[in-house]
Amino acid sequence: MDTGSVLSTIAAEVQPLVGQGAVASYIPPLAAIDPARFGLAVRATDGAEHAVGDATERFSIQSIAKVLSLAVAMDLEGDTLWARVGREPSGTAFNSLVQLEADGGVPRNPMINAGALVVMDAVLAHTGPDATPVLDLVRAATDDATLTVDGAVAEAEIATAHRTRALAHYLKAFGTLRGDPDTVVEAYCRLCALSMSCVELCRAFTFLATGGHAPSGQQVISTRQAKRLNAIMLTCGVYDEAGDFAYRVGLPAKSGVGGGIVAVMPGEFVAATWSPGLGPRGNSVAGTMALELLTTYTGRSVF
Ligand code: DON
Repeated sequence: MDTGSVLSTIAAEVQPLVGQGAVASYIPPLAAIDPARFGLAVRATDGAEHAVGDATERFSIQSIAKVLSLAVAMDLEGDTLWARVGREPSGTAFNSLVQLEADGGVPRNPMINAGALVVMDAVLAHTGPDATPVLDLVRAATDDATLTVDGAVAEAEIATAHRTRALAHYLKAFGTLRGDPDTVVEAYCRLCALSMSCVELCRAFTFLATGGHAPSGQQVISTRQAKRLNAIMLTCGVYDEAGDFAYRVGLPAKSGVGGGIVAVMPGEFVAATWSPGLGPRGNSVAGTMALELLTTYTGRSVF
């Protein structure tokens, strides 16, 4: 079957799951999203793109952005970053406070919120109070200067980020954060409010399937860093569902509470899916199934 037919088959098969789960309700702009949306896009490393459903509609990428800030932090900071954040799966919720206490103030990995705050702190130490270099990476990777944050989502995130703010101040108390915790939280919230479509996400994450090259051919990170980012996505990208996701899908991936998931088959393709209904671990129900069917029907996964 060709890729277009595979995507159409998957879209039909996941339809009963679309709308299942719970749409993120902690801020009004996300709570208002129609749960019946579903999109799936695949971009091969040779540039061939296929899409089905709502794959060109922009949505809030949320925690998917953590991979992009980590790519920038690894570039700016080098290996010293790893003194302040670990690389092990957490097995706990993405916003856990308890684990940070148990781990002595060093977050388990850069994909959970505590770790993403340390990553943002590292970025800001090199760039000033906003995360423009991360936006620059996204724009360079997609070759699209119009990509930007959704202001309403960003303001709502900032107004309600009490738990994230608690984590940031806790990290500061441990000495893990160097900068101002509230500045770090604001930059983190703005980054989570990036709006992108499945097709745009496939372009933006192409560098992880090509050893560091954007669709334009520009090397945006080194091959070694691309390998490392894929490893962190595989082990930590979907939080306390990492084991089940690896079993079902078998690809490095990153999810967000907006209902998006990006998955990478190194050397071959990037896939992105969007459906807002989330399972109990905060990952899209229909999106996870779509990716499971994609690797099953194509016979391609890292395993
Ligand atoms: O930190 C938060 O609460 C959100 N802005 C992002 C969380 C998120 O996407 C977790 N992923 N499933």
